[in-house]
Amino acid sequence: MKISLSLDQELCTQCYSCISECPFDLLSEDKEGFPQLRKAAVKRCMRCGHCMAVCVADALDISISPLESSPPVDRSLLPSPESLKHFLEGRRSIRTYRKKSADRATLEKLLDVSRYAPSAHNKQPVHWIIVQDSEEVKQIAGLVVEYMKELKIFPGLLRAWDQGVDKVLRGAPHLVVTHCDPGYSEHPMEDCTLATAYFDLAANSYGMGSCWAGFLVQAAAKYQPLIDAFNLPEGHKVYTALMLGYPKYRYRHIPQRDEPKVTWK
Ligand SMILES: Cc1cc2nc3c(=O)[nH]c(=O)nc-3n(C[C@H](O)[C@H](O)[C@H](O)COP(=O)(O)O)c2cc1C
Repeated sequence: MKISLSLDQELCTQCYSCISECPFDLLSEDKEGFPQLRKAAVKRCMRCGHCMAVCVADALDISISPLESSPPVDRSLLPSPESLKHFLEGRRSIRTYRKKSADRATLEKLLDVSRYAPSAHNKQPVHWIIVQDSEEVKQIAGLVVEYMKELKIFPGLLRAWDQGVDKVLRGAPHLVVTHCDPGYSEHPMEDCTLATAYFDLAANSYGMGSCWAGFLVQAAAKYQPLIDAFNLPEGHKVYTALMLGYPKYRYRHIPQRDEPKVTWK
């Protein structure tokens, strides 16, 4: 990988935050005490951009994440602890959707935010399938139902399907699926789960609703017709799925949850 670092020595305060924060110690001090890239960076830099992003003086620029295309953090836009707490506690799994579809621009915004989820070694291995057509979502639900019928599991859910009620994907207008190559990422499940959690929360911030689709993920691990329907690249596996749409009902209360099961040491 080509990587180059440029430093404005006039601006650099020699605080060494860039050196301290590099996850792999790929920066060192040169003879004059200014940060420089070590040769190992060519092979080991994971493109996290932390050295540039942490610099208090905007003195350090790096080719893998140029300063001019890396926006400053605007602290005035950050949620307060109370606001974040209310947002997170007020999010609910949505199982009844309006007919309304999300527009492509909104879906793109959700994907855009989800790119910032942490990933092991900053591999950013997550691939997405966004099903925009509700009829296609229904067909996929039908494949999950076929799988359940073969296994003779969840009879109530199967009966509901036969009566025209979809309890697998809940008639959601959209479906979001993540997949990745487990040979490429060291932690494919965590990477996909975190990216999906970002997507989920971002969707809620736009007034949308979602529900994790565990039945679908179980079936996608084993049922070939469903795997074929996703037309995954060679070696890829499905890790998460979300139903997505606009909620028919708004939740008015925050239900109780268990106390943390914690061991303090
Ligand atoms: C990994 C995972 C899989 C899930 N799968 C389903 C599912 O297939 N169908 C469903 O209705 N809800 C599913 N859920 C939603 C949970 O039932 C829900 O998160 C839980 O009851 C708590 O409700 P809340 O999300 O509104 O707080 C799943 C949640 C997770 C985290």
